[in-house]
Amino acid sequence: MMNIPSSSFTEVVASAPGKTILFGEHAVVYGEPGIAIPVPTLQAHVTIRSGNPSTPTTVSAPAVGLSSCDTAQPESEPIRALLELLSARYGLPLMTGHTIRVDSDLPVAAGLGSGAAVSVALIRAVNVAYALKLSDQTVSDLAFEIEKIHHGTPSGIDNSVIAFNRPILFVKGEEIRTIQPRTHLPVLIADTNIRASTAIVVGDVRKGYPANAPLIRAIGDISRAAVRAIETGDLPIIGALMNANQTLLREINVSCQEIDELVAAALQAGALGAKLTGAGRGGNVIALLPDENPETIANVRNAFQQAGATIR
Ligand code: PMV
Repeated sequence: MMNIPSSSFTEVVASAPGKTILFGEHAVVYGEPGIAIPVPTLQAHVTIRSGNPSTPTTVSAPAVGLSSCDTAQPESEPIRALLELLSARYGLPLMTGHTIRVDSDLPVAAGLGSGAAVSVALIRAVNVAYALKLSDQTVSDLAFEIEKIHHGTPSGIDNSVIAFNRPILFVKGEEIRTIQPRTHLPVLIADTNIRASTAIVVGDVRKGYPANAPLIRAIGDISRAAVRAIETGDLPIIGALMNANQTLLREINVSCQEIDELVAAALQAGALGAKLTGAGRGGNVIALLPDENPETIANVRNAFQQAGATIR
């Protein structure tokens, strides 16, 4: 018989950051390296309260489009699916007697890892509430199961960078390598406010495969070069590599006019490099600044805003 852990807690709150992919999105799906960093200014928060064990667990997640949900949600609903997974894997009574609230600063379907951040925050909350002592790798692996619901065939880069909460070099199927930037990377993230489905964009790239394989490999080469540039703190090279990466992303047809306009506006305003981040066809653009002078930041920020973007 399974020994069901008891819930001696009344309330637990846990958080997880958003993420941005600096290099290698889409190519990571084909085993090429990618580089991602957490975005600590954007967070998902999960609060779990324990209550009457004879009532179904309720979930309120307005920030991700779930105003209220309980165990009557379809099994494919990601939060419900994660609760089922954790209940089954660790013998927890999560489907009854809990009130769960999700709050998030992260825009959904915008390439900043909203789904993975909510999953990691929820896993961390359960980890604390039931003293499971899960490692970062286990947290990442559990979140990856839910990424499959969000994205179909995810590489695992989102759940990895968010669960490990540090800059990473990601290669599918390999151990996570931590990257140590020599200097702080001054970046600005700007949202096109266009939402795109990662699963659809990834599916379209796959339709172009293997014809686009040389472009995918070239993106991998850029990521390999970028590791050295980041670890030696060479901002102009990092910027040039971002621009080269963006050119290739355009060639595999995952950019769009709004992204191209934001990239051009940032470069015109003095950014060293700019590219889409995440699946593309909308979502966010990331720009690398030459320094953190207030004037430099204001110039790029204004250029983004004049081109219609929201600063994240
Ligand atoms: O979910 P997004 O938009 O952050 O995109 C993830 C990055 C992709 O490489 C496009 C997909 C993947 O699974 O790696």
